[in-house]
Amino acid sequence: MAVTTQQLIRYKKEGRPIVALTAWDYLIARAVDEAGADLVMVGDSLAMVALGYSTTLPLTLEEIIHHAKAVRRGVEHALLVVDLPFMSYQESPKQALRSAGQIIKTTGATAVKLEGGYPDMAETVARLVQAGIAVMGHVGLTPQSVHQLGGFRKQGKSAEAAERILSEAIALEQAGAFTIVLEHIPDDLALQITQKLTIPTIGIGAGPHCDGQVLVTADLLGMTTWRPSFAKAYVNLHDTMMQAVQSYANEVRQHQFPTSEQPK
Ligand code: KIV
Repeated sequence: MAVTTQQLIRYKKEGRPIVALTAWDYLIARAVDEAGADLVMVGDSLAMVALGYSTTLPLTLEEIIHHAKAVRRGVEHALLVVDLPFMSYQESPKQALRSAGQIIKTTGATAVKLEGGYPDMAETVARLVQAGIAVMGHVGLTPQSVHQLGGFRKQGKSAEAAERILSEAIALEQAGAFTIVLEHIPDDLALQITQKLTIPTIGIGAGPHCDGQVLVTADLLGMTTWRPSFAKAYVNLHDTMMQAVQSYANEVRQHQFPTSEQPK
């Protein structure tokens, strides 16, 4: 049985931590789904980890849909959420409705995620929810605003900034979001938001008090040479891949691979 939005809200009530990971293609999606993730996100971080951009900003709706279709084919159990890329929803609730509708119709995703809070995004979330679309919010460090924020920096450090993020989270819940990502904010602020909301919070760089955690799977697998300070690599696939490719190259160059067929 596939995980539902209501199930995630129940997990919060039961105090059962939600396990979320990102995916950008079929193979990664199958691995994280088979390993038991509750939530798989086709995050726009795929612009950086799969397409080689230095920010998420260049990613288009067509590109994320292309990747989301591949991920969909690899996910059987987890709830699938797809990011709305930069400038595919900021213009107006109508634009958001068109983009979100296209994602849901063409990829088979359960929900969409968008960045930002009060007042504009809360209004957009309300409009999407009114149309029957499940929406995940995202506050704190919102990478689509990287240049406005002056880099991928921790947010909500001053009392005023913390208050703003808290009210954004409340506004998103009131608008009908079923869950909210809290990215790179102080642990105590994440705790405060998690206690205040009835919908689950999914943290990334937001400490241990959220209802669930998400990591960019390329970071968890150690596929990249750089990762954010809050990310944990559980294996070093970058080095493992380098070693495997070097072994193959050596064997080809030394005529050791492939070996000749044995005469029958
Ligand atoms: O783009 C992304 O991968 C994300 C998740 C880390 C939440 O937004």
